[in-house]
Amino acid sequence: MKYFMLAILCWVTFLLAADKKSSATEQKIDSILATMTIEEKIGQMTQTTGQWNWHDPANYTSNSAASDGQRIAIREGRIGSFLNVYGSTITRELQTIAVTQSRTKIPLIFGFDVIHGFRTTFPIPLAEACSWDLDAIEQSARIAAREATAAGLHWTFAPMVDIARDPRWGRIMEGAGEDPFYGSLVAASRVKGFQGNDLSSNNTMASCIKHFAAYGGAEGGRDYNTVDISHRTLLETYLPPYKAGINAGAVTVMTSFNEINGIPSTGNKNLLTDILRNEWKFDGFVVSDWGAVGELRTHGFASSESQAAKKALLAGTDMDMESFIYEHQLSALVKSGEVNEQYLDQSVRRILRVKYLLGLFDDPFRYCDSVREKNELLNPNNVIAAREIAKKSIVLLKNEKNLLPLSKKIKSIAVVGPLADDKANPLGFWNALGDPTKVTTVLEGIRKTVSSSTKIIYAKGCEIDSLDTSGFKKAVETAKRSDVVIAVVGESAVMSGESKCRSSLNLPGVQEEFIKALLSTGKPVIVVLMNGRPLTIEYIDSHVPAILETWFLGMEAGNAIADVLFGDYNPSGKLVTTFPRTVGQIPIHYNHKNSGRPSNPDPKSYSVRYLDLPITPLYPFGYGLSYTQFTYGKPSLNSHSITTTDSIMVSVDVKNSGSRAGEEVVQLYIRDEFGSVTRPVKELKGFKKIFLNPDETKRVDFIVTPELLSMYDIDMHYGVESGTFKVYVGTNSSDVQEASFEVVE
Ligand code: BGC
Repeated sequence: MKYFMLAILCWVTFLLAADKKSSATEQKIDSILATMTIEEKIGQMTQTTGQWNWHDPANYTSNSAASDGQRIAIREGRIGSFLNVYGSTITRELQTIAVTQSRTKIPLIFGFDVIHGFRTTFPIPLAEACSWDLDAIEQSARIAAREATAAGLHWTFAPMVDIARDPRWGRIMEGAGEDPFYGSLVAASRVKGFQGNDLSSNNTMASCIKHFAAYGGAEGGRDYNTVDISHRTLLETYLPPYKAGINAGAVTVMTSFNEINGIPSTGNKNLLTDILRNEWKFDGFVVSDWGAVGELRTHGFASSESQAAKKALLAGTDMDMESFIYEHQLSALVKSGEVNEQYLDQSVRRILRVKYLLGLFDDPFRYCDSVREKNELLNPNNVIAAREIAKKSIVLLKNEKNLLPLSKKIKSIAVVGPLADDKANPLGFWNALGDPTKVTTVLEGIRKTVSSSTKIIYAKGCEIDSLDTSGFKKAVETAKRSDVVIAVVGESAVMSGESKCRSSLNLPGVQEEFIKALLSTGKPVIVVLMNGRPLTIEYIDSHVPAILETWFLGMEAGNAIADVLFGDYNPSGKLVTTFPRTVGQIPIHYNHKNSGRPSNPDPKSYSVRYLDLPITPLYPFGYGLSYTQFTYGKPSLNSHSITTTDSIMVSVDVKNSGSRAGEEVVQLYIRDEFGSVTRPVKELKGFKKIFLNPDETKRVDFIVTPELLSMYDIDMHYGVESGTFKVYVGTNSSDVQEASFEVVE
């Protein structure tokens, strides 16, 4: 028995040693670790929040951000990281305590949810993803990092890369939609944006891939809920964006709140060690989500706080965000010999590694720079960039008889609806230090854009979520007196985001009746939607001539929307999430399987369908209109037969056959027709966003590599299987033209 225990100890020591790198940094970490007490090590693994009561976006830097008790804890080496503390003054003050008054002098790392901008608010991530403009997405993260780092922050809890196939789930607003291929590209762009090329530069910050893993797979779209998916679905659908973020260099990962198939992520060794460390070679650190170490007990996965601490640590959770279970339990576990101290060393090593990478050991004050803070935050160039990407995020859902764009010289416009002159909601959820006073509303944006002779009449009409219809009358009268009606309706910002799930996706309150009342005037009604998720708007789609999906576009919302309404920008956004007709259609992602009895529109068919619903979504994945038209040629291939190691080129001619210049997102999907396991009916494998002048034609080429044709076969080996593949090219996932080729051994 003694020898057995010794062998285990040697093995653990070997595994832990393997995690060490032999660089100068690692040697420095060794020498620091050698001087640290168990309590100081646990301190590095403990993250705590600043005080809530001081948050004031207008005056965001305050000494009361940390309590006296927290100041003492820093001095005693019991805190290694803060979240929700920002501003150059306070971060400098707390950092000074850490590096001058604590025994180890290890700098603190300050983290914050910089999700779509810091002070300059960009569109919510779901909206930005609809731009299909990876450079713009990277740029938005870059600017957010420049601002946040000037205010003393080192680390953002972003990007959230969870695939979301259920729009009831409120956190769909925070990701890039339903597709793993596209989601992976967006994940990498966001990481590159935050981290830049040099993490030690004073204007780049550590990013955090979250929430690992499959947080978006919550049953019923209810946040935090159980996830029960096959290993295959985990690998094929949910894991790719996390992996892409890690490959792009993300130095931290956050665990997810959910369990997967019975094992909560924060205690899931398979996820946090086998996959993340051993397969993906991740060498940064893992932070738990808020309180998630403690929640291992609530899940029924740990019988006590002590067991929760042990399970989380041994699984691979390096830092405990806000449950204080590590602080309270780990010391006794190590002293009693139940947990090997080398597990602490391993986690502290990973955390110190990131602190080194950020340059905090060279200069712990590198990021708290009041001059830069003054110049960077809300810098006019940042605001210009926010407007640029906001325009690109807008999706034109409908435009009957080219009602849009409107002439700037139009005589009169009724601007109505609860969100038409709203300054708070366009900021969306997770808006960091977004300042409502800096938001341009739709009404203001329109006023700035139209000619001086255009008469604009505003009436709110109703609230976002109330049953009161008393405001309809005035709004309807306003509509009657105008040439056109612009109705700005949707959700409030806090109807999506964490813990903000909905069972109905209808327009809240009486807004749909409000639209009906406006339509009854006979005036052309343009609906501008603001929302954090797909809504079920079948009535609006079939009765209103023009619809713009604008999501929550951030502080430049009103300007960007006016740019599109009046044709200064030709909309080019495409949906990254399918719009169902009703909640009953969910899940309705485009990349589903065929089944043995594929959906058949004939209601009498024995096929995959509901008796009472069409089989199609309201708007498919990849959908979005332009003010011009694009005509697609037939896709051609440079070969009709390739081997499993060859690439194939798919080409298509796309012509701007309308009268305005515009951008088009040309999309490529494939289908592996038969396999050792069944494959989705379509999978996005490429896209190009091109600009075309009227009458211009461009040839778009896609190289489909073996990697893009690969899949996990029946034995879970990853590679290309021989057989027939279909290629689809088009303007959205439904409207495509096809070609096919063979893959031979
Ligand atoms: C969220 C995380 C977030 C953390 C810190 C949690 O409740 O799930 O996404 O980063 O809080 O604010």
